[in-house]
Amino acid sequence: MAHLLEMKNICKSFSGVSVLKNNHLELEAGEVHALLGENGAGKSTLIKILGGVYTKDSGQILVDGQEVEITGVESAKEHGIRIIHQELMLIPDMTISENIFIGQEPKTKAGTVDKKKMNEMAQGFLDSMHLDLKSTQFIRDLNIAQQQMVEIIRAISFGAKIIVMDEPTSSLTENEVDALFEAIKALKAKNVGIIYISHRMAELDAITDRITVMRDGEYIDTVVTKETTHDDLVALMVGRKLGDLYQKHENYSDDIILKVEKLASGKEVKNVDFELRRGEVLGFSGLVGSGRSETMECIFGLRHKDSGHIYIENKEVDIKNVKTAINAGIGLVPEDRKQSGIYPIQGIRFNATIEILDKFLKKGRYNSLQIKSQG
Ligand SMILES: Nc1ncnc2c1ncn2[C@@H]1O[C@H](COP(=O)(O)OP(=O)(O)OP(=O)(O)O)[C@@H](O)[C@H]1O
Ligand SMILES: [Mg+2]
Repeated sequence: MAHLLEMKNICKSFSGVSVLKNNHLELEAGEVHALLGENGAGKSTLIKILGGVYTKDSGQILVDGQEVEITGVESAKEHGIRIIHQELMLIPDMTISENIFIGQEPKTKAGTVDKKKMNEMAQGFLDSMHLDLKSTQFIRDLNIAQQQMVEIIRAISFGAKIIVMDEPTSSLTENEVDALFEAIKALKAKNVGIIYISHRMAELDAITDRITVMRDGEYIDTVVTKETTHDDLVALMVGRKLGDLYQKHENYSDDIILKVEKLASGKEVKNVDFELRRGEVLGFSGLVGSGRSETMECIFGLRHKDSGHIYIENKEVDIKNVKTAINAGIGLVPEDRKQSGIYPIQGIRFNATIEILDKFLKKGRYNSLQIKSQG
C-alpha cells in the first residue's frame, strides 16, 4: 500500500549553501513519526518545504502514492497538510476564534461571517482541550503556551490528514502537554499522520512510533521507537558514540560575579538566592510558571523588585530599569526573541548597536561610521 506521505531525495540550498542533502521521510496513516536532530540539522527546513513555506530545489513529495507539487501554504493545505511552526504565526490583534477560522470563516445565509457560530465552534475546540480560555479573547493577551495551544487547535480542527508539530511542547506546562498528547492520540485513532519534532527523549518514547534522524542536513536513519535506546539515538544524532560526547571541563573560578539575595517580586518571585561565578554557566530549571523568567526580568530591570539585594562583583547595585542593568554589565536574551528580543524590520547593525548607542554619541550626533565598523 502507498505511504500516506513520502518525501524523497529532497535537496535545498539557501544562497548556495546546502541545507538539505537528499532527505527522506516516510509517514503512514495513524503514525506519529518523530524528526530528530541537533540544532541546525535541517528539521524545520524540511517541514517548511512540506508546508509550502519554501520550495525544494529537487526531490519528490508523494501523498497517498501520488506525486504532488506544493507551490505554497494554500496548496499544502489542499493536500491535507497542516504545519504548526516552531515560531508561532498568530495575529495578536485578532481573537482566538478569528485566528482559528482565518480564511475559512463560517458564513451566514446572507454571506457575511457568522461570528456567533464561529465563536461557539472555537469555544468547543478550547473546551475539548480543557483550556480555560474564551474564544473571544485576543491573542495578544495570551501567554506563549496558550498561543501554542491555539495554533494546535487551528491545525487539528480542519480535517488535515498530515499534521506537523515543530517542537510543540517547548513552552507547555505538564497539564498542557497531557492535553496535547490526548489530542495526538485522538488524531492517531482518526488515521491522521503526525510528524513530531522534539528534542525531548521521554516524549518520543511516550508518543512516537518511528523516529527519523537527521544530521547536518543529511538523512541518517529511520528507527522503530520501541526497539531503540536513547544512547542509540544520540549516537545517530551526533555521529559519535556517547562516551565521546561529554567533554565537559569546568573552568569557572571561585570569583562570584553576580550574587542575588532574597529577591522578591509580586507573586512570582519569592526569596530567590543564587550566586554566579566568573566563567560559569548556571542553569535554572522548573516548570512553566515557576518564576524563572520573572526572576531574570527583575535582575534586568524589566520588573520591579519588592525586596532583595543584587551584587555585581561584590558591590550592591540598585537596578531601577533596563538602562541601569545594561550599565552594570547585564545582558538578556528573552524567551520570546521575535517579540521582545529584536527589532525584526531593522538590520543587524541597528540591532547589534541599539543598546550601546550612547557610545557613538558625539556632540549630540551619532557617529555612523563608527557604528558601521562596530556593527
Ligand atoms: N531562510 C534561511 N536562509 C538561510 N539559511 C537558513 C534559512 N533557514 C534555515 N537556514 C539554515 O539551515 C540550517 C538548518 O536550519 P533548520 O532551522 O532547518 O534546523 P533545525 O533542525 O530545525 O534546528 P532547530 O533544532 O534549532 O530548530 C541552519 O544552518 C540554518 O541556519
Ligand atoms: Mg527547527
